[in-house]
Amino acid sequence: MNSATDLLARRKPSHSLEQAFYTDPAIFEADLQNIFYRDWLFAIAACELEKAGSYVTHKVGEYRVVIVRGADNQIRAFHNTCRHRGSVICKAAKGNAPKLVCPYHQWTYELDGSLLWARDMGPDFDPKQHGLKTVHCRELAGLVYICLAEDAPDFDTFANTARPYLEPHDLGNAKVAFESTIVENGNWKLVWENNRECYHCGGNHPALCRTFPDDPSITGIEGGETPPRLQAHFDRCEAAGLPSQFYLHGDGQYRLARMPLNEGAESYTLDGKSAVRRFLGRAPFADAGTLLKFHYPTTWNHFLADHSIVFRVTPISPTETEVSTKWLVHKDAVEGVDYDLQRLTEVWMATNDEDRRVVEDNQQGIDSPAYAPGPYSPIQESGVLQFSEWYCNTLAARLAPDTLAAE
Ligand code: FES
Ligand SMILES: [Fe+2]
Repeated sequence: MNSATDLLARRKPSHSLEQAFYTDPAIFEADLQNIFYRDWLFAIAACELEKAGSYVTHKVGEYRVVIVRGADNQIRAFHNTCRHRGSVICKAAKGNAPKLVCPYHQWTYELDGSLLWARDMGPDFDPKQHGLKTVHCRELAGLVYICLAEDAPDFDTFANTARPYLEPHDLGNAKVAFESTIVENGNWKLVWENNRECYHCGGNHPALCRTFPDDPSITGIEGGETPPRLQAHFDRCEAAGLPSQFYLHGDGQYRLARMPLNEGAESYTLDGKSAVRRFLGRAPFADAGTLLKFHYPTTWNHFLADHSIVFRVTPISPTETEVSTKWLVHKDAVEGVDYDLQRLTEVWMATNDEDRRVVEDNQQGIDSPAYAPGPYSPIQESGVLQFSEWYCNTLAARLAPDTLAAE
């Protein structure tokens, strides 16, 4: 078959990708090796680790990771693989443990990864040589990112750009009100392509469209002048201390912009009013819109005046992708008093399910031998083009000769 490099080289500009990018196990493996095993990945919200010993496990490709809050309050990430004979250590999706104890022979690790105890290993055994292998881990304004590479790429440029936008949302004082994890039977790139346009919104998202504009100047990327309504919204929010201006990083990996919702709308509810009475963050007015942040390849987010929603994309196989969604509210907001869970979550629960369906339909059509790349709408799909350019440029630059030989 053609190598990924050949397929990238003959790519039709402004068209969807060739079938192999959505179906071929070798390209899926190239995506893991060159993107997911190399880039910074959003993992969890820091508030998910409530206290010392709280941990969350996560699997990315073949890597298993445990993210844990230490006795010193610091969040660290480790490969969830015992340094004895390799058993997985933490098996639950989340939990709390004073020490990390391997279930096989009970080697016991401190929360900072150092090996505390191993029975009958003889006089020459050095526990210091057998601490857990670390995974790069950074906390950014309440969001935890990890990187599986030996040498992680720069994180500070992104962090320094995103921090001022995120800080007013006070995610350090958040709690998870609800989380949902679904598996979409589609390639991870189809999940992203769908996310990066609202061409499909009118026909598929009746609940979301009550509050979220399907205006391409809001859902796509800037192509010239900022429309006056948008600029007025940026200016009003910035004057109130909420960084808002559209920002797209030069290599296209991340974008930040605080976009207005539909006229009069405050939050993603069916009536458009706030979902949570006790706001998470310092927005001085309810109609501050939504701070849209994406960071390829794993996360898009909505930060509203009253609550925040974080999404995580994890590829499982060429045609399966996990999407997890967490609704974050102020830690002191009381369910049933300050918010109603159904009202808080119903719009995005419905939207996620509608997106799952269109992504699965898209995959099924692409699986047909009759599929051929089709043209993007220049008006509606600038964001899809931007994603596929980022993906193709990133993969092309990283595909080393030895990777190609394996295909
Ligand atoms: S494999 Fe973990 S203690 Fe033996
Ligand atoms: Fe959608």
